[in-house]
Amino acid sequence: MALNQGASQEAIQYHYDVGNDFYAPWLGPTMIYSAAIWPDDPKAACNLAEAQYAKLDWHIAGAGLGKGDRVLDIGCGWGGTMRRAIDSAGIGEAVGLTLSDAQADWIAEHQAGQPMRAEVQPWQAYRDAEPFDGIISIGAFEHFAKPEMDRTAKVAHYGDFFRFCADSLKPGGRLSLQTIVWMNVAPENEAGNLPLHIFPESNLPHVSEVFEAAAPYFHPMAYHNRPRDYSRTLREWIRDLGRNRAELSAMTDAETVKRYRDGFAGFVLGFEKGVIGLTRYSFLKR
Ligand SMILES: C[S@@+](CC[C@H](N)C(=O)[O-])C[C@H]1O[C@@H](n2cnc3c(N)ncnc32)[C@H](O)[C@@H]1O
Repeated sequence: MALNQGASQEAIQYHYDVGNDFYAPWLGPTMIYSAAIWPDDPKAACNLAEAQYAKLDWHIAGAGLGKGDRVLDIGCGWGGTMRRAIDSAGIGEAVGLTLSDAQADWIAEHQAGQPMRAEVQPWQAYRDAEPFDGIISIGAFEHFAKPEMDRTAKVAHYGDFFRFCADSLKPGGRLSLQTIVWMNVAPENEAGNLPLHIFPESNLPHVSEVFEAAAPYFHPMAYHNRPRDYSRTLREWIRDLGRNRAELSAMTDAETVKRYRDGFAGFVLGFEKGVIGLTRYSFLKR
């Protein structure tokens, strides 16, 4: 199966290998790079780390994980999901896949004897001899289709992903998935409505494409669409990129910091105008 159906390793590293020290000051201690779950009441007290843990716990439950289980995290970032699954659910072993060497190095340095490891491998090439109890994939699906792919091509490749997940799960296993989706925008206007250029070679799914691609392999058990979860998370990152601008610019350059801030601001607008949504799914293997 060709990796070039989604973003290439070079495209992923352009965004994610800017430097682990670059991400740390604004992602905060969880090092989670995806939408958190915020309370519905905007006045309720909640900080970014608490909201990120609420999101991770939703997915740990969505993947049906419990003590001693094995989990596969597809698009593991800096390993925060695996750490939470071990600490809060007593997971026995966690394997994470990433295309970023910098992320894998960071996980190896910070795993502190926990039963987790990261592999720099695309899911398209990964096979494990043992099936997993559950799979989690948060904020990686956005990289699984290229901008030039039409609906048919996207659904076919997303279908490859769901088949891979089903083949990698034990009977009764669950996949918990999170992805941004296109909403109120005509297909011909998608590219002009979002600064997707900060994530080269990437494109978003429509909800109907996700369900269509998953249907042969999974029963949907839970679904929600909460765009405000991402706009609020992005606003936190934008604020902390600003607070740390001098330090971050010294690490990279002012243009890179501006590219992230402006790009995130464009995504905030997209969520608030209804151009894009933030979806989460729990799927049960057929
Ligand atoms: C936005 S980050 C999300 C990281 C993490 N799940 C989190 O929530 O913090 C996207 C991740 O997907 C990974 N990724 C993208 N395409 C992939 C592929 N084909 N196979 C495996 N990982 C991939 C990237 O390397 C990166 O770790």
